[in-house]
Amino acid sequence: MCELYRKTWYEIDLDALASNAKRLREIHADRTLIAVVKANAYGHGAIKVVKRLREEGVQFFAVSLLEEALELRVAFHDITILMMGVLLPEDLKRVAKYDIVFTLSDHKLFEAVKMFKGALRFHLKFDSGMNRLGFKEINDFRKVYDALESDPKKCIEGVYSHLATSDDDENYVNFQYKQFMEAINTLPKLPKITHLSNTSAWLKHESIFEVFTHARVGIGLYGYTLESADYGLIPIGTLKTTVSQIKELTTGEFLGYGITYQAKNPTRIAVLPIGYADGWIRQHKGHIVLIKGKLYPIVGNVCMDQLFVKIDDTIHLDDEVTLMGPGILNAGVIAEHLQTIHYEVLCSISNRVPRLYIEKEAKL
Ligand SMILES: Cc1ncc(COP(=O)(O)O)c(C=O)c1O
Repeated sequence: MCELYRKTWYEIDLDALASNAKRLREIHADRTLIAVVKANAYGHGAIKVVKRLREEGVQFFAVSLLEEALELRVAFHDITILMMGVLLPEDLKRVAKYDIVFTLSDHKLFEAVKMFKGALRFHLKFDSGMNRLGFKEINDFRKVYDALESDPKKCIEGVYSHLATSDDDENYVNFQYKQFMEAINTLPKLPKITHLSNTSAWLKHESIFEVFTHARVGIGLYGYTLESADYGLIPIGTLKTTVSQIKELTTGEFLGYGITYQAKNPTRIAVLPIGYADGWIRQHKGHIVLIKGKLYPIVGNVCMDQLFVKIDDTIHLDDEVTLMGPGILNAGVIAEHLQTIHYEVLCSISNRVPRLYIEKEAKL
């Protein structure tokens, strides 16, 4: 364990990560899982996550940004890294140098790729209905393919698209699937890698996508899905802190910025050393934390570095507090309170919170 100057930390269970990866890969043993580790592996720490997944046999990773790809390449020389976000034409040299597979999804980059003299590896992206990244017109998609396919230095390793509603609207999934199939069926020869699914589609729909060789799986690795069914996945992150001060409020006393809380009776308050600069934003007010197996409410406005919890006599200085983790305080429950999705809760835990890694079963 690294030294903590403040007793707030995000505990990451790498054995749970390995178990999730195993579970997910078992579901479609004949397809290749691309582990999505963008945004610092959804906040869990990309280097540690990739290291462990690599030990578990995962070889293919996807990120969004070039800086994320470069961070991985410096640490790992033997993995495939797909960059899914927008690449600037002036960075082609860099992706070539660091052997990064990029996504070709717009005309500006296409023109630059055509002119580029060196070898490049990339996936073509088709926009099948999300209207985010990708070529939307089949003719454009085909034109780009034809122009680059004949150049031996330009390796179109894959084609892919992204689903907008894999967790809820099945009709729209089918619509996008058909759009994508129509686009790739116009190609004279399919690149060796094809992919459409994310976690939800991998869990629910992949069997109908028989043509695809790979799937890009993110949130499931970290132990969550937007599905109600239990797929045996374990949340890998637990956000913890400790009681750093206890205040005894007399009746009528106020608490915190904006004095939004007033004690109706003599009230014990625990001050916790975590706040919105750590990603635990003001909207957490009114939600709960877990101390010694019991739930306590967050009261008063959340500060930048601290927040307040109304406690009883059983709670003492230095008691450990769980803000998020597997079970009753999982990211889904928190997302519901914040009226958002798990992804946003996970990605919000800021870099200021030290990540502590728990690992018993590393293979290497
Ligand atoms: C293009 C793309 N593919 C795959 C994923 C992974 O999705 P999930 O985390 O739902 O598996 C994402 C996540 O946002 C994405 O943007």
